Amino acid sequence: MDTFTNIRQIELPKILDERGNLSVIEEETHIPFQIKRIYWIYDVPGGEIRGSHAFRHTEEFIVALSGSFDVILHDGIKEVKYALSRSYYGLYIPRLTWRRIENFSTNSLAIILASGEYREEEYIRDFDAFLGSVT
Ligand code: TYD
Repeated sequence: MDTFTNIRQIELPKILDERGNLSVIEEETHIPFQIKRIYWIYDVPGGEIRGSHAFRHTEEFIVALSGSFDVILHDGIKEVKYALSRSYYGLYIPRLTWRRIENFSTNSLAIILASGEYREEEYIRDFDAFLGSVT
């Protein structure tokens, strides 16, 4: 299965204003799913790694609202690294994509929009099991 073709960085609207800039995300307009959940990762100590799992059905969209970090994605065949550092760019991650988030800068803030509610059964936390489910 080639899910990798669906991974993409999406540029969000950016309304420039001398009072401060504004960006926006509308479900099914700027991202290809309905938003069921929003969570964020912050106060990450230097050198820590988040993620290291895939979701069976959940799609996600990640934005670096502040600071920077790297998102490393694996589709079961190859790995690609995306460096996120702009609040008007997000990374769309389809289902069945292994992800790892690392290299968080000080005070970075990752916001993640998800297509499904939190359910532990959605997680594939074993890389070999992930490879078995995509190949
Ligand atoms: P997890 O998704 O494993 O974190 P990581 O970003 O490192 O992949 O979630 C860490 C813990 O937080 C886990 O015990 C479950 C809990 N959690 C929720 O309760 N709701 C959520 O929406 C998320 C994402 C996590």
